[in-house]
Amino acid sequence: MTLSTVLSSPPAHDAVSRRTGAAGLAAALAAAAAHWLDLVEYRPEGRWTHLLPPDAAADLLDASLHADLAGAQVWLLSWLPAQGTPLHDHGTSAGAFAVVRGTLTERVVAAGRNGVRESAAELTSGRVRHFGAHYVHQVTNRDTEPAVSVHVYTPGLAWMNTYAVDGGTLLRTGTERAGVDW
Ligand SMILES: [Fe+2]
Repeated sequence: MTLSTVLSSPPAHDAVSRRTGAAGLAAALAAAAAHWLDLVEYRPEGRWTHLLPPDAAADLLDASLHADLAGAQVWLLSWLPAQGTPLHDHGTSAGAFAVVRGTLTERVVAAGRNGVRESAAELTSGRVRHFGAHYVHQVTNRDTEPAVSVHVYTPGLAWMNTYAVDGGTLLRTGTERAGVDW
């Protein structure tokens, strides 16, 4: 199976439910941000990422969401102006993220039979994006103020691929362990 076939395949039903469950968790964690924003650090030398322990995440959420949380992993991220990710996927994880403070710009790249399609959107505080496995995007803080976001992955993020768009083709450029730079 080619990479373009994988990227253009419709998501399986379970992947759809996983990513919508992740969206609910991300929105609920964003709504509870007052209880975790004190944890956030801003690092000029590189983006700050923090894996929230399952017990800490559960304490922030209504019990009705604990079943969804059981198969998920929660990361808190901060973004100083100009900080961002490479173009990447999330391995076989689905997920969602919510912008809690500031504004993030998301570039989405999809490869299909007719080549590469790109879109970009500014995501202000309160916006939630959810995605299935093999979703390829790049997130950057193009604003002048720091940004904070909360990310939920189901199953937990283990690795990601990085990509580049070259000549109208999406090329995989590497594979990285989760939490290093994504
Ligand atoms: Fe991502």
